[in-house]
Amino acid sequence: MDQKQLKIEAARKALEHVSDGMRLGIGTGSTAEEFVRLLAEKVSTGLNVIGVPTSERTAALCRELGVPLSTLEETPELDLTVDGADEIDSELSLIKGGGGALLREKIVAAASARMIVIADKSKVVETLGRFPLPIEVNRFGLRATELAVAAAAGRLGLSGDIKLRMTGSQPFVTDGDHFILDASFGRIPDTRALSNALHAIPGVVEHGLFIGLASAAIVAGSDGIETIQAVR
Ligand code: A5P
Repeated sequence: MDQKQLKIEAARKALEHVSDGMRLGIGTGSTAEEFVRLLAEKVSTGLNVIGVPTSERTAALCRELGVPLSTLEETPELDLTVDGADEIDSELSLIKGGGGALLREKIVAAASARMIVIADKSKVVETLGRFPLPIEVNRFGLRATELAVAAAAGRLGLSGDIKLRMTGSQPFVTDGDHFILDASFGRIPDTRALSNALHAIPGVVEHGLFIGLASAAIVAGSDGIETIQAVR
């Protein structure tokens, strides 16, 4: 099975957790898009749900496929969010934000009673950090924030390239009108310490470490589908 098919299988399994009347957070990225496509098929045959999208990109796909949408203002409490991830560890801590939607993704996940992560097996790691950690920052004081991030990481024994995410020759701009720094730390043994340190920097809007948010991960590999439950 190729990677796209594995993403579809994980998304299909997640759909089993969706029932009539649910208020759904809808993730961003190629795996979440497979979920949207399958969800739209169910909606077209009568499933009644309302979705809160985690990005403009997901909102556009939902509109195109006929998935009814709401906003977090109108629907501030959600039953379930289904979203992808860039890395997943055994405690279901995640790195997210490869698609640049981490801020809305985290707000939506935090407003949900449950979050199910869907992924192909390549996303499962022993220690988070090989995937560069996306850090969403205010445009104001970009260089000062970048230095503060490097210093905070250094105090935790972390080092590596911190790069401003670009789209062609221009900085990538998030849906919230911020920039993203991608930090290649390689290994992040103490994710909580880094999360706290990054939150203490005024120019940091949010970061892509999702700790204690995922309730379960549905991971599809060529040897089958595994559901990993969070232990809390
Ligand atoms: C979007 O900002 C991300 O958090 C995605 O959920 C993550 O990058 C996974 O994307 P793929 O499903 O495309 O790998």
